[in-house]
This record gives sequence, structure tokens and C-alpha cells, in this order.
Amino acid sequence: MSRPATTRPRIAIAGATGRVGKALVAGLVDEPVDLVALTRTPDPARFPATVSQRAIDFDRAGSLADALQGADRLFLAQGSSPHQVDNEIALIDAALAAGVRHIVKLSAAALPAKLHPFDWHAQIERHLLASDIGCTVLRPTTFMDALARAGRDVAEDTWGGAAADGIVNLIDSRDVADAAKAVLLEEASTDWQRAFQLTGPRAWSMPAIAQELSRLLGRTVQYHHRSPDEQREHFVSAGVSAFVAEVLVGLDRTVRESSLQENTSTVQLLTGHPPRNLADWLVENLALFGK
Ligand SMILES: NC(=O)c1ccc[n+]([C@@H]2O[C@H](COP(=O)([O-])OP(=O)(O)OC[C@H]3O[C@@H](n4cnc5c(N)ncnc54)[C@H](OP(=O)(O)O)[C@@H]3O)[C@@H](O)[C@H]2O)c1
Repeated sequence: MSRPATTRPRIAIAGATGRVGKALVAGLVDEPVDLVALTRTPDPARFPATVSQRAIDFDRAGSLADALQGADRLFLAQGSSPHQVDNEIALIDAALAAGVRHIVKLSAAALPAKLHPFDWHAQIERHLLASDIGCTVLRPTTFMDALARAGRDVAEDTWGGAAADGIVNLIDSRDVADAAKAVLLEEASTDWQRAFQLTGPRAWSMPAIAQELSRLLGRTVQYHHRSPDEQREHFVSAGVSAFVAEVLVGLDRTVRESSLQENTSTVQLLTGHPPRNLADWLVENLALFGK
């Protein structure tokens, strides 16, 4: 059902309960747009009253079509899982059928290589680019939040990995949400095909992060060097699933090879503010590391 051109843009957000999606909803809620959160588990307590929620079930294609009725723009983000490619492609197809004009897809900056989820993003991007719909692909580097997983290990002096002395330009996931907000508020054309590389302000090695944590915590924090096999074993013996362990060892590889070291001005250009820096993120999250 098409809507009169004078109505406010309707933005559907897939992944609205997730890390980036939640911050995006918070950033858009006071804008002159109608927001629709797509979720597998609707819960009225989760969002402000002005945000509509629609239940989606990836086993029922009709639920995706219903949820996207009347939407003009779609933010597409799904947590990493072996279903991600099928789920995101199903959402793209449903958006196309529903008359969505612009999809903003949350992707990832690394080369597809042979690692999940980078190869998955490459497949989804290919499908998106072959579809008759405007798109903007956001390719952020690894989120600073990835360090939260190291909190307990830092506290217990078992933090380490297979990143060696490679460097990575981590990004604050709130900057990803801010960039998505800016792009979703644009009046896009249905033939746009754009990709933006999003980074933080500078690259760090893991030993340099250990040094910064040492300064902030007032005690020595070490990054223990391990081989990829040793790191995989470390995760598995800590109860991490084989799937997640593989993804995390792959992330270490991107750091070891310094493949995400670049610094782009894209966050500043899109949002009007500089990217948040890691030292501030560490201060905000110091409690995670045993302070
Ligand atoms: N973490 C990083 O360092 C990093 C860096 C660059 C790019 N990325 C990309 O960013 C995306 C993740 O963004 P995010 O951290 O905001 O997402 P997230 O919090 O992990 O998940 C977003 C939402 O996806 C929905 N979802 C639907 N099917 C799912 C499934 N089978 N498994 C897990 N979640 C599912 C969930 O919503 P409901 O439960 O409400 O349905 C969830 O809240 C991924 O595609 C990842 O590759 C991540």
C-alpha cells in the first residue's frame, strides 16, 4: 500500500534490539520520522511509545512483508549467526516487494577473506547491489565493544590472543549508529549504490591497549601472546562455542595482519563530529576490567 508523499518518512529498523540498532533508535526517536522496530521478540517495554514494533519470523516470509508495509527506508543489521545471509537476503527481498526506496546495510570493513562474518557480508552486499533498490553500505572496523569480552581475562591476568603486535583502528559502535542516522535521514534515490568506510580516530596494538589499561587501572595489564590454535583452545576451554571461537580467532587475524588500520574521515563527514576515541571508551568501561 503506497502512502501519500506528504507523510513523514517511515524507517524500519531490523536489529533494533541490538547494539547499533538500540543506539540508532535512541538517536532517531526525536526526529520527524515514523520508526518501526523489527524484532523476533516484541516487548512493549523495550522502546519509547512512539516506536512501533513488528514481529518478524524468518521462517514465515509473510511476516517480513507485513512488517515492512509502508516503510520507505530500512536499516539492515543482524547479529552474526549462520542464518545471517539467508535472513538479510530475505529482508532485502521483502523490502523490495514492499516498495522500500533505500536500504542502509550494516556490513564490515575487512576483506571477505575466508572468514565469517566477512564472507557473509560480501554475499549480502552482492545481493543488495543486484537488487533494484537504493542502498548505502556502512563498513565499520571492529567495534570497541569487542574489548568488553576481555574484561574478566584482564582482571585475572589471562588476557591475550593471536593479534601479535598488529594494529587495528577500533570504532565506537555509537559512531556507527550516528552515521546510520545521518544516512537514513537523507532523501535517497532508488539508484544510489554507496559504501562508506567507518573508522575510529587511530589504530592501536593490543600491547598498547594493555599499556593504556595499566595507566588507567594503576596496575600492570599484560596482553599474553598466543598462536591462533592456542587462542582457539583458550576460548573453547572457557566455554565459548566453536562458532564464536572461530569468529574471534578470525578477528585476531585481522589485527595481526593490520588489515583494519586505516583512518577515514567518514564519521566526521557524515555526523559532523569526530569519532569517539578508545581511551575515553576505556575510561567509561573501566569497571569491566576489574576496577
Ligand atoms: N562487533 C563488531 O566488532 C562488528 C564490526 C563491524 C561490523 N559488525 C557487524 O555488525 C552486525 C551486528 O551489529 P550489532 O552488534 O548491532 O548486532 P547485535 O547486537 O549482535 O544483533 C542485532 C540484532 O539482530 C537480531 N537477530 C536476528 N536474527 C538473529 C540471529 N540469528 N542471531 C543473532 N541476532 C539475530 C536480534 O534482534 P531480535 O532478537 O530483536 O530479533 C539482535 O538484537 C553484524 O552483521 C556484524 O558483522 C560488527
